[in-house]
Amino acid sequence: MQSAPLVHGKGIAIPAIGLGTFRAEGELCAEAVQWALDSGYRHIDTAAMYGNEQFVGEGIRASTVKRNEIFVTTKIWWADIADGLLQASAEASLKRLDLDHVDLLLIHWPNPAVPLRSSIDALCKVKRAGLAKSIGVSNFTVAMLDEAVSLTTEPLCMLQAEYHPRLDQSKLRAAAARHGMLWTSYCPIGKGNVFDDPVVKDLAAKYGRTPSQIVLRWQVQQPGTVAIPKSVTPSRIRENIGVFDFTLTDAEMAAISGLKRPDGRIVSPPFAPAWDA
Ligand SMILES: NC(=O)c1ccc[n+]([C@@H]2O[C@H](COP(=O)([O-])OP(=O)(O)OC[C@H]3O[C@@H](n4cnc5c(N)ncnc54)[C@H](OP(=O)(O)O)[C@@H]3O)[C@@H](O)[C@H]2O)c1
Repeated sequence: MQSAPLVHGKGIAIPAIGLGTFRAEGELCAEAVQWALDSGYRHIDTAAMYGNEQFVGEGIRASTVKRNEIFVTTKIWWADIADGLLQASAEASLKRLDLDHVDLLLIHWPNPAVPLRSSIDALCKVKRAGLAKSIGVSNFTVAMLDEAVSLTTEPLCMLQAEYHPRLDQSKLRAAAARHGMLWTSYCPIGKGNVFDDPVVKDLAAKYGRTPSQIVLRWQVQQPGTVAIPKSVTPSRIRENIGVFDFTLTDAEMAAISGLKRPDGRIVSPPFAPAWDA
């Protein structure tokens, strides 16, 4: 059975590979969580918006892995990040998950109609109440991150953002590092968008790995970086955690980073902030 090493940050130790669950629905989501835990995963990523927290909780309970060995992340939807609403949303998530705390609670997206101070205060209150062991943000820009760090009274330990070989995130990654924050890559395999690229195919052939494993190895070989590939397919769930027994060379890492494109972003809903160039 494979396992993922821990990535250490401000007050957290988080497994470098977690199971993404966006669009994992109903009993299939519960089964995927159970398959993942049985395959060695110890980190599950969900969100209030995914509508699957109850099934994530079901999968955790169905597995033989103890709760205190599993790192669970959930996120507060951007409509609910005002002081008061945020705490109520966190409590509702815990109820659906049937857990007394999550290991990481994130603001899912910024909301321009809500002063950041209000959201960050609320997030800190949730942490102090013991409902979340650690806190962070997702889909923030460099300026928002700087402001959030200046406002917070509890360590902001994680930035979750889109990152894969097609998307250059060097500015945002530098900002997170400057603040001592860890990074979680969402869409870490870019939904397969470079699997047919010769750079990735040749490395897959060289190392006897799949394209997904090459891209995920590229992710976790970068400092302070965690990846949360989503799958509801048992063989892929196993495949995606099997990336800790080989190493890419610096030149190979650079070749994969070189696949970036200006139009590489996949996720940009109407409520997204003005992304850093
Ligand atoms: N914070 C945010 O705003 C945000 C936004 C987006 C995503 N996320 C999180 O990040 C997670 C991952 O992102 P994502 O789901 O958008 O994209 P992704 O993980 O890059 O790609 C998932 C897709 O790739 C397929 N896949 C998985 N492993 C594979 C493999 N080994 N070979 C071939 N295909 C494979 C999956 O299919 P099957 O499931 O059918 O196997 C699914 O269609 C989400 O599930 C969610 O937890 C967060």
